[in-house]
Amino acid sequence: MAKPSSPQSHSNYQGIPGTKLLGNARLTFEDKEIDLPVFEGTEGDRAVDISQLRAMTGLVTFDNGFGNTGSCISSITYINGEKGILRYRGYDIEDLARNCKFVEVAYLLLEGKLPTEKELGEFSSYLNEHALIHEDMTHFFTGYPRNAHPMAILAATIASLSTFYPELEDEHENFKITTARMLSKARTIAAFSYKKSRGEPFVYPRYDLSYCANFLNMMFASSIRNYEPTPLLVKALNLVMVLHADHEQNCSTSTVRMVGSGRVNLYAAISSGMAALWGPLHGGASQHVLEMLERIRQDDCNYKKYIEMAKDKKDPFRMMGFGHRIYKNYDPRARILKETCDEVLDELKHTDPLVDIAKRLEEIALRDDYFVEKKLYPNVDFYSGLLYRAMGIPLNMMVVMFAIARIPGQVAQWHEEALDPNWKIWRPRQIYSGESRREFLPMEQRV
Ligand code: SDX
Repeated sequence: MAKPSSPQSHSNYQGIPGTKLLGNARLTFEDKEIDLPVFEGTEGDRAVDISQLRAMTGLVTFDNGFGNTGSCISSITYINGEKGILRYRGYDIEDLARNCKFVEVAYLLLEGKLPTEKELGEFSSYLNEHALIHEDMTHFFTGYPRNAHPMAILAATIASLSTFYPELEDEHENFKITTARMLSKARTIAAFSYKKSRGEPFVYPRYDLSYCANFLNMMFASSIRNYEPTPLLVKALNLVMVLHADHEQNCSTSTVRMVGSGRVNLYAAISSGMAALWGPLHGGASQHVLEMLERIRQDDCNYKKYIEMAKDKKDPFRMMGFGHRIYKNYDPRARILKETCDEVLDELKHTDPLVDIAKRLEEIALRDDYFVEKKLYPNVDFYSGLLYRAMGIPLNMMVVMFAIARIPGQVAQWHEEALDPNWKIWRPRQIYSGESRREFLPMEQRV
């Protein structure tokens, strides 16, 4: 494909704010030569618009894993993987993580601006008003086996919210209530699924507690145990949830957009995103990182062995918590999580051998040519599980924590798509590689 020809007049591309038409890229194939528009976004990320490719040439593109394909134009989150930059609505993740509570950042992602004191107060009371799930929903939990993974319960129960709250008003004011229901009830369902896994009675949300304090209380309080969520743990939970709140078009958020493109209700779309996030290559990695670190600990901390296994193409072992499709530099979230993990352990006056193992593993890996050449750095999942563990959150709840923290971002992305005047159902093409036409074989002739 030729380099973009000389830039034409700079104007919004197709009238989309934040974009600029740069010129054309010329594609020549057989007897055809076509120009495809090239446009760029606010931060200089550039794209060739191939929307007319098939109509003009009969060709489709093929892009395994969509590593080179932009699925949408979005103003919510910006990542520069080469520089290790992550911003929500233009604000650096470092500033948000250190200065904002999760609810404040959820508001930012959903509304596009940081809330005033009044707006934040109103949003928080929406969340508290909608924190309970319908009492009939509590019977769902009795049907699950004791060792049911909380993620299975969360994904299924969130989809069922649409049966109890079928109305999904899309005018702005009511959408706020639907959003509050989604964020708040997901947290309650997550806490109830934890109590279910421990065979303990549910602890209901309290109006007097903040979002994160409520979550910790619902998880760890019980009728026989006095529990007060400490400021340290509430602060740490806010920070880790802020870090997970959105991450542009990752696998699970793209699933929410894909499912949402068929105009399905918000709860069903978010539930599909939960299922995608559960995978060990995605949000499920935090649990697998801890299992990997424990395996190394029990193997006399033979770091070299596991580094070599990770490099061996014949070995299915991967260094969990390392590598990223977008970050080819240190994931900024991993850096903050590593610092916070140390802070929390220091304040709690306890140590965790797995933290030292993780740091040593990182040190050795980042000096190894394989990891350096392939730009494999620790990602968000490498330290998140260790921080959850320091907070007393069990292994099977780690991906659940990721999932409920990601909801504001996914709701914002679903809503951005729903408001898009160019909304289309997602229906990718394929390249067929199967049998050509065959004559039908009656049963007696088959072998
Ligand atoms: C998340 O997309 C997002 O934004 C996701 C996320 C979010 O916030 O939503 O950031 C959250 O999912 C973080 C990632 C958590 N997953 C893991 O930690 C699992 C371990 N990581 C890998 O499986 C892998 O790095 C992925 C899945 C994260 C990325 O996979 P890619 O982009 O498809 O990269 P790849 O598999 O093509 O790897 C490129 C090369 C390959 O070697 P070659 O074939 O080129 O020789 O790097 C190697 C891979 O074998 N490689 C690894 C490795 N990750 C990549 N080798 C060993 N260990 C690893 N972890």
